[in-house]
Amino acid sequence: MIEQLVQPRTEIGPNLWGPFSVAGRNALVTGGAKGIGHGIANRLAEGGANVVVADVDEQAAERAAAQLGDMPGRAVACRLDVSQEPVCREAIARCVEQFGSLDILVNNAGIFPTSAVLDMTPEFFEHLLAVNLKGVFYMSKAAGVQMRKQGTGGKIINIASVDSVHPSFPGLAAYDASKGGVLSFTKNFALEMAPYNVTVNAIAPGGITTEGTAQPLTGMSAEQMEAMTSAFLQRIPLKRMGVPDDIAKVAVFLASSAADYMTGTFVVVDGGMLLA
Ligand SMILES: NC(=O)c1ccc[n+]([C@@H]2O[C@H](COP(=O)([O-])OP(=O)(O)OC[C@H]3O[C@@H](n4cnc5c(N)ncnc54)[C@H](O)[C@@H]3O)[C@@H](O)[C@H]2O)c1
Repeated sequence: MIEQLVQPRTEIGPNLWGPFSVAGRNALVTGGAKGIGHGIANRLAEGGANVVVADVDEQAAERAAAQLGDMPGRAVACRLDVSQEPVCREAIARCVEQFGSLDILVNNAGIFPTSAVLDMTPEFFEHLLAVNLKGVFYMSKAAGVQMRKQGTGGKIINIASVDSVHPSFPGLAAYDASKGGVLSFTKNFALEMAPYNVTVNAIAPGGITTEGTAQPLTGMSAEQMEAMTSAFLQRIPLKRMGVPDDIAKVAVFLASSAADYMTGTFVVVDGGMLLA
């Protein structure tokens, strides 16, 4: 469950984070109720950022925000389906209304059902793209408009995947198309937002144990899932699956002034899997 996946707080306070501090920043994390998104919300709040935990699962978002209750940063929950453009604009407005600005956007929400292309319906492909790629566009546009208006810069972090650059296994063609799109979108949007001092970067996680990956993927049996996980492990030089906090710490880095001169790039966080 979430408690096991999120790392405990470190002893140092946000005022000791130096260039990695996000204290006083206002952030929105899509898909922030569970998995990697919750890990990111946790570290941002620990670092003193105020966080909107935005998720299609409203109850899980409420629980996740409540869990962050004793962090230095404040957390509020918000229902958000990233595949719905007006709802994306409302979520950005909610962050501004609640905290006064939007300084950090983490586009994390994503789904990963599997299907062979030869069996894939147009509806399957369209839904996956609507959540994983159009959602990034809708949120980035709404955030970009707000950040340009604020005139104080900003950080946009997109959670892509190692599959953005190299396929993991068959059945993920639609997912890989979406995540390849996220990476290309990241690079071009970085060019567009550079004049406003808004950086746009991506993280490419490898195999991360989350609520989502703990479930058998749609279209896969439990046995196929277990075989896939063990095949995955064989390919990881660091010999373990990642945990959400492995991604969260890199997200905080990209959200902080330590990464001020990085834009349009991506950080691979995969235990060395792409080397294998
Ligand atoms: N876990 C991995 O191994 C891995 C690897 C590479 C990339 N990623 C990417 O990281 C991101 C998070 O993955 P995870 O493993 O934490 O997933 P997860 O399923 O554990 O959590 C995803 C969260 O997103 C929410 N969500 C789903 N659809 C949404 C929508 N339409 N609008 C808003 N919220 C929505 C879910 O309710 C959930 O809280 C995804 O974009 C995924 O593609 C994960």
